[in-house]
Amino acid sequence: MNEVMLKNQQIVEETFDTIIDSEFAKDVVYGLSQSQKRLSSKYFYNDAGSRLFDLITEQPEYYLTRAETNIIQKNGSQFFTRLEGTPFNLFELGCGNGDKTFSLIENMLDAGQHFSFYPMDISKVAIDGLVKNLHQSFPLLNVQGLLGDYHQFLPQIHTLGKQQRNVVLFLGSNIGNYTTTQAAELLSDLYKGLNSGDFLLIGMDLKKNFDRMTAAYNDKNRVTEKFNLNLLCRMNEELGANFDVNKFTHYEIYNPLDNAMQSFLVSIEKQLIHFSTIDLDIEFDAFETLFVESSHKYSFRDIDILAQKSGFEVLESYTDDKQDFVDSLWQRL
Ligand code: AVJ
Repeated sequence: MNEVMLKNQQIVEETFDTIIDSEFAKDVVYGLSQSQKRLSSKYFYNDAGSRLFDLITEQPEYYLTRAETNIIQKNGSQFFTRLEGTPFNLFELGCGNGDKTFSLIENMLDAGQHFSFYPMDISKVAIDGLVKNLHQSFPLLNVQGLLGDYHQFLPQIHTLGKQQRNVVLFLGSNIGNYTTTQAAELLSDLYKGLNSGDFLLIGMDLKKNFDRMTAAYNDKNRVTEKFNLNLLCRMNEELGANFDVNKFTHYEIYNPLDNAMQSFLVSIEKQLIHFSTIDLDIEFDAFETLFVESSHKYSFRDIDILAQKSGFEVLESYTDDKQDFVDSLWQRL
């Protein structure tokens, strides 16, 4: 890793807290002042939220993570065999706790592939944990964590690694949380940052029975509800708000017009919320909603169209045994 990059990374680390805080405050002020109140789902993932998300992935109804783990176990050693021994930079956008990544890397090393690994995440805990884990298990693997919002790295991603060839992992159907416009923007930044012939492995949740999708986001143990309500706790902690989580419930439905699960926090009564650190008052009417997440679902045709629009070609579709989920291998044109 070169000096310029090290410097950049230090800057990211030093300013990390202030950037996040002020951006969060700004987004809360803006989002909660709209007639349809909204807040980006990226704010779910503070430490408590990341732990709750890990718990969600263990719920029987939440099939997504199990499906993708199954795909990786079946195909992890095959994804990048077409590189035929060419060394490459392997980037991961939003590695999270890294369980799936760990098993993928293990498969790839077993298959004799040569790469350096660059996991990116906004959570220092997540990056540090994964890097340490990988160092312990694979001491010869070159791993360099990149702390920060991965969006900033995308347009110049090809400058970050030592090799010419780049491979990007964007797993877990994280793309599903982006609006169509945001997804197009992200993929166009990635297009700019990659060389012609580079690869993207992108995980996407497939359209399926509406009841199964709805159940996945309304688990019986109510972990998803806690995960959503944690956003209110986070505003209490970081912005001095006075939300009472007992006065909100979680409501989540599939909207076929948007091809997405849509998640809301519902105020069960009329109430006034005060944010002491940003001098803000927000009124909720009874049964007014705060829109907090979309999780888009895709057909194979949707995926082809999205790839084509963004300057990529779909090479391969790896699905789990139940055909619930796909890891789609794209090549940048
Ligand atoms: C991590 C974005 C894939 O949308 O399914 C899980 C997050 N939200 N339960 C998803 C989530 C509610 C999850 N992703």
